[in-house]
Amino acid sequence: TAAALNKQTVTTKAPNRLHSGYAHALTRSWQSESRLHKDQFVYPLFISDNADDFISIPSMPDQHRIGVDRLDDFVAPLVAKGLSSIILFGVINDNADKDAEGMYADCAGSPVIEAARLIRASFPSVYVIADVCLCEYTDHGHCGILNADNSLNNEVSIRRLTEVAVRYAKAGAHCVAPSDMNDCRVAAIKDGLAKAGFGHQVAVMAYSAKFHSVLYGPFRDAAVSPPAFGDRRCYQLPCGARGLARKAVVRDLSEGADFVLVKPAGSYLDIIRDTKEIDPNAVVVAYQVSGEYAGIYAAANAGVADLRALAFESCEAMVRAGATVIISYFSPHFLDWLN
Ligand code: PBG
Ligand code: ZN
Repeated sequence: TAAALNKQTVTTKAPNRLHSGYAHALTRSWQSESRLHKDQFVYPLFISDNADDFISIPSMPDQHRIGVDRLDDFVAPLVAKGLSSIILFGVINDNADKDAEGMYADCAGSPVIEAARLIRASFPSVYVIADVCLCEYTDHGHCGILNADNSLNNEVSIRRLTEVAVRYAKAGAHCVAPSDMNDCRVAAIKDGLAKAGFGHQVAVMAYSAKFHSVLYGPFRDAAVSPPAFGDRRCYQLPCGARGLARKAVVRDLSEGADFVLVKPAGSYLDIIRDTKEIDPNAVVVAYQVSGEYAGIYAAANAGVADLRALAFESCEAMVRAGATVIISYFSPHFLDWLN
């Protein structure tokens, strides 16, 4: 009972008394090394190849496939609230438009190229990142060009990805983000950008520690990009592979990656911390993926906790682990919450 407990004479020694250091709202803010701010959020946009689409994505509450004709109206209010960066993904609705090399990734009029041009022209303050991969554009849905045995042809794939990256740079992307996981594509893309005259302007954000995860399910739904056969285990990292992730981060930094990305984020905070420790000078990016977003929404809808509180805790943890930048579908929410 409380009375009995009160009789005990154990006293807390001064240095062990921590509460006094965060008893006030201001001192709690002093203790929070990892507070969030608007500039660290990057918002992913799914750009449909139907110019006037504005279609909600069932597996991702509040997210849409957006056609280029709808983009200005969608982005303008977000920029007014302080949106500073977006990452573009293309959505090809008709399978008949997909082929073995992913021609629609970078043909004239491809959704990412059109959207990059448009956003650069309409919103000069917005930093434009173009995701570089082939899975949204290939008929087989894999992240490169395949050999006869359906394995990735690494050499041909990285040449093709470089071509795509350079075309995105020409369309106005400030940054290209290869998410394909082919070996040595960072070196190839850096080299291609330099040869095309973008060496000093266009950054490479490498998806370095990208794990094979069930949490990409809603994204594949949104981007209409599931693999037609097999899975991505031969190029995305196995869940438990901490050492392999470290090797991939070291390699991509040595190839000149400007920013290194860990994905998914919430279940891989140790990898974020490892990445920051491998190179304390590196800018580490955390990608809070579609399944994390949908899961947090579902938890909030089930009454587990408030949506805002869940989103804050998840993102603050990423920053605490070592991330500087967060790619999140919650970005529009945070623009409101961080006012
Ligand atoms: C495609 C790509 C994926 C994501 C980003 N780029 C899916 C995948 O690799 O299967 C996942 C993003 C998300 O789930 O939000 N290379
Ligand atoms: Zn891919």
